[in-house]
Amino acid sequence: MCGIVGCILKDKKAAPILLECVTKLEYRGYDSVGIATPDSEIHIKKDQGKIKDVNKKIGLSNLPGDMGIAHVRWATHGIPTKENSHPHTDCSGNIAVVHNGIIENYKEIKDALIEEGHVFKSETDTEVIPHLIEKFMAQGLDLESAIRDTLDMIHGSYAIAAMAAAEPGKIVGAKKDSPLIVGKGIDEYFVASDAPAILNHTNNIIYLEDGEMVILERSGVTVKNMLGEVIKKEIHVLDWTPEMAEKGGFDHFMIKEIHEQGESVRNTLMEAADIEKVVNELPDIERISFVACGTSYHASLIGKYLFESLMGVPTDVILASEFKYSAPALNDKTLVIFISQSGETADTLKALRLAKESAETLAIVNVLGSAATREAHHVIFTRAGPEIGVAATKTYVSQLTCIYILVSYMSNRMDLLEELHKVPQYMEDILADEDHIKEIASRYKDSQDFFFIGRGFSYPTALEGALKLKEITYIHGEGYAAGELKHGPLALIDDGVPVVAVVPPGISHDKTLSNVEEVRARGARVIGLGSHEDKLLKSEADDVIGINESVNELISPISYIVPLQLLSYYISVEKGIDPDKPKNLAKCVTVE
Ligand code: G6P
Repeated sequence: MCGIVGCILKDKKAAPILLECVTKLEYRGYDSVGIATPDSEIHIKKDQGKIKDVNKKIGLSNLPGDMGIAHVRWATHGIPTKENSHPHTDCSGNIAVVHNGIIENYKEIKDALIEEGHVFKSETDTEVIPHLIEKFMAQGLDLESAIRDTLDMIHGSYAIAAMAAAEPGKIVGAKKDSPLIVGKGIDEYFVASDAPAILNHTNNIIYLEDGEMVILERSGVTVKNMLGEVIKKEIHVLDWTPEMAEKGGFDHFMIKEIHEQGESVRNTLMEAADIEKVVNELPDIERISFVACGTSYHASLIGKYLFESLMGVPTDVILASEFKYSAPALNDKTLVIFISQSGETADTLKALRLAKESAETLAIVNVLGSAATREAHHVIFTRAGPEIGVAATKTYVSQLTCIYILVSYMSNRMDLLEELHKVPQYMEDILADEDHIKEIASRYKDSQDFFFIGRGFSYPTALEGALKLKEITYIHGEGYAAGELKHGPLALIDDGVPVVAVVPPGISHDKTLSNVEEVRARGARVIGLGSHEDKLLKSEADDVIGINESVNELISPISYIVPLQLLSYYISVEKGIDPDKPKNLAKCVTVE
């Protein structure tokens, strides 16, 4: 996930305004920044680092001209360096492009372009775009048509803004599966990843759809489809405040990130080919050990259920901080999988260094260039984009997506991979029920203790639901394997104690429902998560959060966590807590 912006202004310098706008997009990425403005040639200033540091170092607003494009990067292909920072250019430096998204087939295109004599300066997927535009413009096409032909060739997701020195006074934008909006001020025009980035300049916004292009010129903006036909678009007048801007209109980063989970799963699915490659590189494996902390530990538990039930490979899950005390006997037939959103957690890194001495290691990480990615034998990237809220949400669903893809390839279960493509829609359906979950949260917010129960694949979901509650509401929440209730916690169930039961359709369904009956008999208030069509659950639970009936047990963890995140989020807000910055906790824990 990166942030892009472009503008054509009237009687004003563009670079300071591009800098201001791109700073509002820093939540989308913060490892590199760059601006390009044209006069007779294209001038570029860019470097790796936070915007404020790069600006101090190279003076980003010190560029000529009244138009330009800018980018803030969240590295996906190529570590954060000056060369990998956007804008990227063609061989001549006369075409500049900023891009948000992932070009899946960039390697083939890059190889072909190199064959044809193009010289690449970065390791990014993006750089193929200016080179393709260069190629098509050299064949006589104008910028707009060259971009159209370029987009025809690339697979994946993109929001781009591009300009060419040969066509002064023009910026072309286009989108597919990544956001891009257009701002229409008085004689001033913008494109950006989101509206808040440009709100200081205009609140007249056009939302582009996939397959649409926009051409900004001094005379105005034109939206076209991929056939070059002009499309009439509605202009929305926004009444957002500047504080809402950073968070894209949401009250907190956490809720924004919960809403981005469908996009995170989609982006991570685009990683499938790279994951298959990793699978092909792995030696024969007789045993798997997952090592992680916090939410990543819960993702690992799902991994255990998957590898054992689908492949019969003995799999254990070890808390990273316990690894040195209880490490299994490792050998070269053991694959140790480290899961970490940050790739910098001290306990996880310590365990990785130990495991590497005797076993094959694989790190599943969200941050490119982080320590875990440099040290493990194999690396898979989750494509969740930057996560700001301390409590992990979208990185968790991306981790799960990676594990499911991994196991699909390792066990040749392509049906599972197909099923994963439906998950973003399931998540969107759950988010459509947000008001219902918010209302449940307001009724349960004063409870002192919560229990979360589930069996099989739903047990880690129960643990993660309880962790979310503890982290951001400061309410005691305990996750339990539903069958274990009778061995202790049942003694704590009294009148009115909330029990959240995770009961997707599948083999564990009936047994978990029996446990629901047991807690009901002792006065518990039950919040049931299950299929919309589950009449039995409806008759047992006080409140039911219904999920698409096709989401079975096996695939349920990725979708079923969403209502639990929402429940904790809304309880946190009701209690006046800042869910983005829970007390005593940190996003990245670099001490043991
Ligand atoms: C901290 C964060 C959690 C995260 C855990 C592990 O506690 O607050 O959200 O799950 O660290 O972090 P990692 O980066 O290794 O996944």
